[in-house]
Amino acid sequence: MSNIKIKTEINFQHLLSIEGMSKELITKIFDIAETFLKIGKHDVKKVPLLRGKTVCNLFFENSTRTRTTFEIAAKRLSADVLNLDISSSSQSKGESIIDTVNNLIAMSGNIFVIRHPESGMPKFIASNINKDVHIINAGDGNHSHPTQGLLDAFTIRKYKKSFNGLKIAIVGDIKHSRVARSEMHALSILGASEIRLVGPKIFMPDDVDPTKFQEFNEMKAGISDVDVIMMLRIQKERMQQEIIPSEKKYFESFGLTTELMKYAKKDAIVMHPGPINRGVEIQSQVADSSQSVILAQVTFGIAIRMAVMTMLIDKNI
Ligand code: CP
Repeated sequence: MSNIKIKTEINFQHLLSIEGMSKELITKIFDIAETFLKIGKHDVKKVPLLRGKTVCNLFFENSTRTRTTFEIAAKRLSADVLNLDISSSSQSKGESIIDTVNNLIAMSGNIFVIRHPESGMPKFIASNINKDVHIINAGDGNHSHPTQGLLDAFTIRKYKKSFNGLKIAIVGDIKHSRVARSEMHALSILGASEIRLVGPKIFMPDDVDPTKFQEFNEMKAGISDVDVIMMLRIQKERMQQEIIPSEKKYFESFGLTTELMKYAKKDAIVMHPGPINRGVEIQSQVADSSQSVILAQVTFGIAIRMAVMTMLIDKNI
């Protein structure tokens, strides 16, 4: 069963970063994802678009949402899925990551979904394999998490229809966040009117273009009159040392509360890529409120990942 009729001339081999993607390509991914969202509502959620293909999930870092939604997306496309358990793999015997990938290619792997703590590892793999396979970056260090950036922008399009005129605040530990980087690229390409970076100075990246992004070091001003609030957790695993004196103090200054929500637009949506840390960057009442679209992001992630994998494999979709 396949009622997918969207045609695209756009081809791409790997998905390593949103940087450099065209608005046309991102919009095409979104349009195809819309079709897959509809399929997600059917009793039988499967289409045969990736039948005979094998998707290999290689996660060198923990994950709940990304790994499972890639697996669900691949299964809905009728692909075979291989989740390599890195801790029990021959990586522990000194096998290089390129040798591991080449062995999985010899087992007919077609798409490799890679999460790695080292920035640039998916690109390194893509540059060092000769076969016609596809690498998808599922998060590398603090560099990039392109499918998360895409699903976040897709979520905004679902709720707000257009990026034109939108004020969006990305709040929290932006410096250590690959998600924030991918969101910033996606929202710039898609033409969001105002993109604010909100958080303490120590969480602001050094290389921000002030013509594209406005920095706020205070919550009330930062989220004042915004349409979208994208919250981030503190990325302790990517810090050399603890740079926040106490989570309680951080919450008092930068935690999103029902009280602070009064400064945003009445119909503002609250987003978070997860995992959320309740009582640290977000109050439970806000995370669970009617303005929160955090769980919708997860659902949309399946459709976005289905769209990306289909477009990588089938150049004629
Ligand atoms: N958003 C995200 O990357 O979550 P996981 O770490 O659970 O995959």
